Amino acid sequence: MIIREAEAADVPAMSAMLYALKDAGKRTRPCDETFVMESYVASPNHISCFIAVDGDEVLGLQTLTHAYKGNPYNAPLGSGVIGTHVSPNAARRGIGRGLFERTLDAARAAGLSGMEAFIQKTNDDGHFYYGAMGFEPLREDGTALVRFYAL
Ligand SMILES: CC(C)(COP(=O)(O)OP(=O)(O)OC[C@H]1O[C@@H](n2cnc3c(N)ncnc32)[C@H](O)[C@@H]1OP(=O)(O)O)[C@@H](O)C(=O)NCCC(=O)NCCS
Repeated sequence: MIIREAEAADVPAMSAMLYALKDAGKRTRPCDETFVMESYVASPNHISCFIAVDGDEVLGLQTLTHAYKGNPYNAPLGSGVIGTHVSPNAARRGIGRGLFERTLDAARAAGLSGMEAFIQKTNDDGHFYYGAMGFEPLREDGTALVRFYAL
């Protein structure tokens, strides 16, 4: 397994992994290739999008984007918004941890004030994971509890 920046050619495998998460009941947002390209690989607010790859299969992805004015997460300008998605077939194997090592370097290089993670209050896996990565509870936002990693 290697971790590297995602490229356009990775989009079909990234989409397939997200559909597997959706089928497992762990994702509600879009999974199609257009969404993956526009929101993750080539987002206008892109800082990084790392993927964990084993052969042709994408086992996980982590995105970091600049918080822009009016962003739907209410994240402040100067901070970043992080998202993490690991295949249901590859959970608890350290993929999320490995992705975060790379994203943290990218966040520091981008000069962010910190990173915000939007996690549904009912998402125990997400809260355990981000808590283990050092994200502290920050505020409630509707059905989500936002966690923050200060840089
Ligand atoms: C949350 C998620 C990203 C974790 O990815 P992962 O690759 O399984 O995480 P790792 O194996 O790297 O775990 C790192 C640490 O996080 C914690 N952790 C992760 N999942 C956990 C769980 N289900 N229960 C308890 N602790 C957990 C542990 O401390 C773990 O370290 P350890 O295995 O040495 O004990 C993954 O479960 C996922 O993609 N879930 C669906 C999407 C999602 O909820 N994304 C995040 C919120 S938007």
